[in-house]
Amino acid sequence: MPFKTRITELLEIEHPIVQGGMQSVGVAELASAVSEAGGLGILTGLTQPTPQALREEIERCRSMTTKPFGVNLTVFPTINSPDYKAYAQAIIDGGVKIVETAGTPAVREIWEMLKPHGIAILHKCTAVRHALSAERAGCDVISIDGFECAGHPGEDDIPGLILIPAAADKVKIPMLASGGFGDGRGLVAALALGADGINMGTRFCATQEASIHPNVKQAYIENDERGTYLIFRNFKNTARVGKSEVSTEVARRLANPDATFKDVQELVAGTAGRELLETGDLSKGVFWAGMVQGLIHDIPTCQELIDRIVDEAQAIVDGRLQDMLRATAPAIAA
Ligand SMILES: Cc1cc2nc3c(=O)[nH]c(=O)nc-3n(C[C@H](O)[C@H](O)[C@H](O)COP(=O)(O)O)c2cc1C
Repeated sequence: MPFKTRITELLEIEHPIVQGGMQSVGVAELASAVSEAGGLGILTGLTQPTPQALREEIERCRSMTTKPFGVNLTVFPTINSPDYKAYAQAIIDGGVKIVETAGTPAVREIWEMLKPHGIAILHKCTAVRHALSAERAGCDVISIDGFECAGHPGEDDIPGLILIPAAADKVKIPMLASGGFGDGRGLVAALALGADGINMGTRFCATQEASIHPNVKQAYIENDERGTYLIFRNFKNTARVGKSEVSTEVARRLANPDATFKDVQELVAGTAGRELLETGDLSKGVFWAGMVQGLIHDIPTCQELIDRIVDEAQAIVDGRLQDMLRATAPAIAA
């Protein structure tokens, strides 16, 4: 019996498992495979070089799955920002009905464009206060990203075990737990902590359908739960990346309290990261990764992964937990 939650109802998916937006990884092969397996696959909007390319990627994804999928739009306005509104228009034109957003409050202008088209907004944030303000501003689902996560965990350093129930106590709309999830134990825990489903990034990178070089997938297997660095803390833009010779060097340079972004710029450049993912040459740059690497030991298909997570979660609920409830208390020795 599949888990039915507010997330499966709202997003019209079989399992409460979402693949978070991932720069350079969230393309049609992965998103369609996750959706076909009963989760929600998400294309990463800004991975496409132009809004027109995103329109075409949406069409390509639609040709690969008849099931719902979403698009991520991560909004960090800078002087060289992409034209976010043009990307949002491509999503609207593409008829996509679910959008995952992340980034600064500037993202709300994008929501105003999307919402009149009946698009459900999943907003990812890393603090209860941000979740509440996003809820007040009208988003439909909160994805709450704990300290364990790959990418940007924020500056509060609150792990999921506290952040998820703290958010669940206050957030009224459906909520995804994100950061550190990779197996059925995590799914049961997230549901027990008050979430309606899980969002996973790193775990989906180590699947057959993720269009990244096998060497990078192998790095996710070889790194354990200690195999990440937090970088950019100096700039209040903390990012969690996988451990490698390059990220070790980045962390070493940033340990200098006077370090500036220029000191690491060439090592962390987005172009270098893309080259790393394509060529598998880990000396080219840094790659995003979460602590969940400690739970990644293989490279299944998305179908195998999602089936395994759901089966394991059901076995925990129907087996281990029920057995504990039914067990008679051990006799106390006289
Ligand atoms: C390779 C990679 C790229 C990512 N790129 C983005 C991105 O562009 N936008 C975004 O909102 N989150 C991004 N994330 C974060 C994920 O969507 C998700 O929130 C996070 O991976 C969850 O933590 P986990 O890796 O422990 O599952 C990325 C994560 C990874 C692993």
